[in-house]
Amino acid sequence: MLSRRSFFEKILRNPEARELLMNSLAVGEADSAIGLDRASEHVEDPVLSRKIYRHYAEEKKHARLFGRRLEALGVEAKPLPPELDYEGLVRRFEMGTPQERYDDPRPFDQADLIRFLVGCKAGEERACAEMHGLIQDFKAVGIDAETIAVLEEIYGDEIRHVSYATEELNRIAAKGPADREEVVTALRRGRRAEARAHRIVSRTFLARLMTLAGVPGWIRFFAGIAIDVQCTVRFLFPGGLDQPLVADAMPVPPPR
Ligand SMILES: [Fe+2]
Ligand SMILES: [Fe+2]
Repeated sequence: MLSRRSFFEKILRNPEARELLMNSLAVGEADSAIGLDRASEHVEDPVLSRKIYRHYAEEKKHARLFGRRLEALGVEAKPLPPELDYEGLVRRFEMGTPQERYDDPRPFDQADLIRFLVGCKAGEERACAEMHGLIQDFKAVGIDAETIAVLEEIYGDEIRHVSYATEELNRIAAKGPADREEVVTALRRGRRAEARAHRIVSRTFLARLMTLAGVPGWIRFFAGIAIDVQCTVRFLFPGGLDQPLVADAMPVPPPR
């Protein structure tokens, strides 16, 4: 049976598979910034608005960092096919702020703000888990110290992103039982949408990586089942509102 470590080694040593991995990361980060700058314009609280704009700037930075790693492989970032378009899929499953709301100039009310923050939280929780897994995989193979440094920097940022979204949701939930109920219901819906989108992208992405790395069909089959099980568990048990991992995670202006 193929261990996770030897599978990842095959990926990193295969130029096409490695390019697919780094390109997906670069494009995924650039896509995750979309809408954040516009969201910041819809938020009346000036401090929260600046935090969201800082979030936007940091996602752009992540895209640049992965873009440079891609350049080091001698290739440029290129668009992803629709079946790997994670942001498109989460929107299809109604996670986060819809485009029409950004086009509407009225400031966000509480329901809009909860929807936006839940979209951030569910997406960033996934980003944290992914960065953590990738760091372990790169370290296990023991190559590409520059990419490991980039992943660690981004992982630290993603933890702060999930933390400030969680902090803001807790602030709204603390207003009263009805507000808490509104936040928790929206959070469960958001995490469920995320699990559905993640299942589709992960299945497609892993199948392509495994094909490029020459992994036998029966292993690809069981890897797909493992993704289904993982995402189904997340869909069935979306959890509740937790506490931020980091306190005051997005000070504005950012400390030097
Ligand atoms: Fe990011
Ligand atoms: Fe992030």
